[in-house]
Amino acid sequence: MSERIALYPGSFDPITRGHLDILQRACLIFDRVFIGVLQNPSKTPLFTTEERVDLIRQSIDADAGVDVGTFDGLTVDYAQTVGAVAIVRGLRVTSDFENEFQMTLMNRRLNPDIHTVFLMTSFSNVFISSSIIKEVFRLGGRIDDAVPPACAEALRRKFAKD
Ligand code: PNS
Repeated sequence: MSERIALYPGSFDPITRGHLDILQRACLIFDRVFIGVLQNPSKTPLFTTEERVDLIRQSIDADAGVDVGTFDGLTVDYAQTVGAVAIVRGLRVTSDFENEFQMTLMNRRLNPDIHTVFLMTSFSNVFISSSIIKEVFRLGGRIDDAVPPACAEALRRKFAKD
């Protein structure tokens, strides 16, 4: 039987423990998971594409069956390029749902062969988002339990420079 591949797309600016939670769950369901880092998200990213990819690579287990790539353009097109049958997205709170619902229906319209699978983080990660992490860090709050060590270090370096 052929491998069942999933694409986990996102901005990952930077990757958080919430993302890693979703990734771990996706790895239990799919043979291979591709993390697709969107190169030019509408919001200006704090980290460059290369930095975001590098932080993901440093935060995942090398043998976990996970590949990391970057894309520009439509997620469904990238999903097809990597041979994915599904797009994985995380859901935390009900307010995530509206946007995710809209994206899913649009993606299905663009490519009906690619299905979106929603996974929920554990309760302890519900409050984590990349945007909140950056804001809390900027204002001097503690973020070490919400991001992998490489990201905490990268945030320190980034803000020390600016
Ligand atoms: O981590 P994010 O910022 O929530 O990820 C959003 C992402 C990258 C999944 C979304 O913006 C996206 O799919 N962008 C690519 C452009 C695209 O395919 N748009 C049509 C889907 S509605």
